[in-house]
Amino acid sequence: MSQSNALRREVDAAPVPQAQSFELRPLPGPVGAEIIGLDLSRELTAADFARVHEAHLDHHLLVFRDQRITPQQHIDFSRRFGRLMIHVLHQFHLADHPEILIVSNIVEDGKPIGLGDAGKYWHSDISYKELPSLGSLLHAQELPSEGGDTLFANMHLAYDTLPAALRHAVEGKRAVHSYLAQYGQLQKEGNWRPTLSAQQIAQVQEVVHPVVRTHPENGRRALFVSEGFTTRIQDVPEDESRALLAELFAHSVRAEHIYRHRWQPHDLVFWDNRSLIHLAGGTPDHLRRKLYRTTIEGDTPF
Ligand code: OGA
Ligand code: MN
Repeated sequence: MSQSNALRREVDAAPVPQAQSFELRPLPGPVGAEIIGLDLSRELTAADFARVHEAHLDHHLLVFRDQRITPQQHIDFSRRFGRLMIHVLHQFHLADHPEILIVSNIVEDGKPIGLGDAGKYWHSDISYKELPSLGSLLHAQELPSEGGDTLFANMHLAYDTLPAALRHAVEGKRAVHSYLAQYGQLQKEGNWRPTLSAQQIAQVQEVVHPVVRTHPENGRRALFVSEGFTTRIQDVPEDESRALLAELFAHSVRAEHIYRHRWQPHDLVFWDNRSLIHLAGGTPDHLRRKLYRTTIEGDTPF
């Protein structure tokens, strides 16, 4: 081979990803599986990616154990599933990585470094946008010695087990989702929420989505309302809307629908916002907790 050919080959050759051998362990209960022995700092082969993707659709939540990945690697892996969303609270973006939202109760120099009350109410991430999130990836950076769990409820199960009268009542209904609905309340309850600028408010105008949606990839129906963002069912009287939502919220989070994630160091948890709602279990004030989140954009719910 001539010298110039050898040189060209070196320049052209894209690094070929190597297959990894990893284990998939379904968690007991209605949500989730663990992935052991997969290194997300390396590019996945098409076959490994397909296995992860299928497992995600089957279990709605994957716990990738022991991920020593950089923010950029976290972003790169997330992007394989779709476009990333930039959170409206730019105050809490990771420096130089607006795709990452810092979720943390840590205060430095009197200023919160992240969103300290993320997930205080049950919700599906970014359901207040026309294109809500497909899924989110939360990577543990610093964990408290107690508390700090995250709870997930299976909304396919919630739909499947809905009492017939309730199912009938919400058939074909649509509901309003609003980022601002609970914002004032959260501001009163803690010091985490900055005053929103006019520009920020313009980014979070309320939207309407079906109360029951069909998952675009697994074809299953799921309830798509939550106490965090859903304010009103359309085309029914106000008091009926309030009563229906209260029943739907209570039914969604019955114990048998829930998985409680107890974080381990370097966990990366990837959940499906089309199948699940989630809640921060809470961290004692004197203990530090920090996680990084990417959020993948989804489709228009139908
Ligand atoms: C989130 C969220 C809950 C938690 O990051 O989207 O809701 O336990 N977090 O931190
Ligand atoms: Mn959330």
